[in-house]
Amino acid sequence: MTYDDIRKVFLNYFEQHGHKIVPSASLIPNDPTLLFTVAGMVPWKEIFLGHAQPIAPRVADVQKCIRAGGKHNDLDEVGFDGRHHTFFEMLGNWSFGDYFKEQAITMSWDLLTNVLKLDPNRIVVTTHVSDEEATALWKKIAGKDAIRLDKDNWWSAGDVGPCGPCTEMHYDMGADLPGGLPGSPDEDGGRYVEIWNDVFMQYNRDANGNLTNLPKCNVDTGAGLERWASVLQGKLDNYDTDLFQHLMDATTDIVKVKRNGDNMPSFKIIADHLRAVGFAIADGVIPSNTDRGYVIRRILRRAMRHGQLLGHRGALLSELYPALVHEMGATYPELARQEKHVVEIIRNEENAFADMLQSGMKLLDGELPKVQNNVLPGAVAFKLFDTYGFPLDLTQMILRDKNMTVDVAEFEKCMTEQKERSRADTKGTRVLWESRGELPDTNDSFKYAPVADLNATVLAILRDGEFVETAKPGDNVEIALDKTNFYGTQGGQVGDSGELRIGENTIVNVTEAARAGNIVIHKGTVVSEIHVGDTVNPVINAAIRSQTARAHTATHLLQAALRKVLNTDVEQRGSRVAPDSVRFDFSFGRAMTEEEKTQVEDLVNSWIAADMPVAHEEMKIDEAKSRGAMALFGEKYGDIVRVITAGDVSCELCGGTHVYHTGEIMRAHINKEKSVASGIRRITMSVGNLAE
Ligand code: ALA
Repeated sequence: MTYDDIRKVFLNYFEQHGHKIVPSASLIPNDPTLLFTVAGMVPWKEIFLGHAQPIAPRVADVQKCIRAGGKHNDLDEVGFDGRHHTFFEMLGNWSFGDYFKEQAITMSWDLLTNVLKLDPNRIVVTTHVSDEEATALWKKIAGKDAIRLDKDNWWSAGDVGPCGPCTEMHYDMGADLPGGLPGSPDEDGGRYVEIWNDVFMQYNRDANGNLTNLPKCNVDTGAGLERWASVLQGKLDNYDTDLFQHLMDATTDIVKVKRNGDNMPSFKIIADHLRAVGFAIADGVIPSNTDRGYVIRRILRRAMRHGQLLGHRGALLSELYPALVHEMGATYPELARQEKHVVEIIRNEENAFADMLQSGMKLLDGELPKVQNNVLPGAVAFKLFDTYGFPLDLTQMILRDKNMTVDVAEFEKCMTEQKERSRADTKGTRVLWESRGELPDTNDSFKYAPVADLNATVLAILRDGEFVETAKPGDNVEIALDKTNFYGTQGGQVGDSGELRIGENTIVNVTEAARAGNIVIHKGTVVSEIHVGDTVNPVINAAIRSQTARAHTATHLLQAALRKVLNTDVEQRGSRVAPDSVRFDFSFGRAMTEEEKTQVEDLVNSWIAADMPVAHEEMKIDEAKSRGAMALFGEKYGDIVRVITAGDVSCELCGGTHVYHTGEIMRAHINKEKSVASGIRRITMSVGNLAE
């Protein structure tokens, strides 16, 4: 049975058993706690939690998954055994409060033994130690004595969220193979392969590890298609199955080297990484230096290294991508739809790294003879990272063949030192503030609703790189207070300007409030002598504040419009919100057309004209998520978050200042749209008077 046959048999079976068949969701989850869709259940998390309505009580699909970072990470195993993949397809069936343990087990067993005709004697099952019910059901349904295990039979996607006990089915690949039963010390030997996992999603785990019951009892099952293919095609290695053989044939054609026992890991890694990189970029991931973009960049660079090991130079995955489209494009039409875009992005990445890979390898080869005790100094790994773009794990992978490791602690020390250096260079006095110590966090809770007589105390004055007790008229200073009305530059929004006053007298003209960690720093020029300990009133420039608020709310509308006009994978990559002007960076692989720009601008202006209310609310993070509030991936949010909702078009987690009605923005005008990095576009936009 080919991959195509297996997908069909699986989906047909569950369709006949009342399941709605749905296409795979994106690899980019709508969930800021996960980098990628790591399992078939990820798109359904909100349904399990009771925050969203199921589209049907029973659903089945084949879901694209990537496990290459975070809790579920198989990257380092790929290539060295025949079972692991970064990208894989997960067959799954779900019950959302419909059937539970008995029917789930009955259907799994029926499909495996009666439809696929696997030998029942070669299937071994495991259940959770606590799960009497599932254990008894296996006896009743299949006459099987389940092996009862603890941690292996409890499943969750992340550290928090829906979870529950599970039961796994393992297939015996042959008595002559090494490896013991699941749960035994040598379970990884290769004889028994997990082919299906039925999870009984009953609980929600919170950040403290407490379990509470979900509103309903659900079923989440997952089966690795690649493993099914190996079992059904009688292969011991997933990479010997039809799909991977075809991808490796394509690689052979390009690198012009035959496969043999020694170079097989490289062929496997390239085939695996082609799928991860190709599918992720087709779903909107752009290689970058952060988050999921960095995972994809790392995987791509590892693949290039293996191309190099096969004697190949330069572009590899971009050349192979058409073979991936040929192999999997019928099942996943997005691969072909995005072909030009994906090939272009991969090629740009490969071009950028090709020379660095050669030079970096030269440097490394020169260092290897000096290595003592098989540990490469962290400073060398750092130089490879900093100068040649070698991710740490790439260097580790290269050394693995030589039984060497990296001094990771020293590598991290170099990273920290470099960060401090660049912070000192670019952020000027921030380091001085951060290293000063003894200052309490500024209470800036008044920033959303400034108070007239705040009576703040001057805690510290910084002048010419030194903390002083007194500053004189004309001095350029930075001042920390115990509390303030000022919004300090943060989250892309430029800080307030204004004055520090005593009575009616201006003491300091503040040009911008900035932040050093949790301290708000008032930067400006002294008008009348000021001392540490003085009581002053921080007064913001309200006109500038409302211009900034207009720009900030307009930024949210712009993001919503881009997602409507371009696609929902458009993601914010950076922004600068200044009085009446906006700079917004987002992931998108090509220039926008004139028509698209007009559409976006018109949409934003129509929302402004509709004068929609803008709600500013504080709520628990879970509630914000259940409302579908957009969050920035990688941002750490506290338990209580601020949510800004503009009519029914935009809902975002945001700590900035905003207008209360979209009409206050008056007008928006897109000035420019251009590229700032591979796959990242920048829009500059004026609002309010500036746009008029
Ligand atoms: N969610 C379960 C898994 O990934 C089925 O194993």
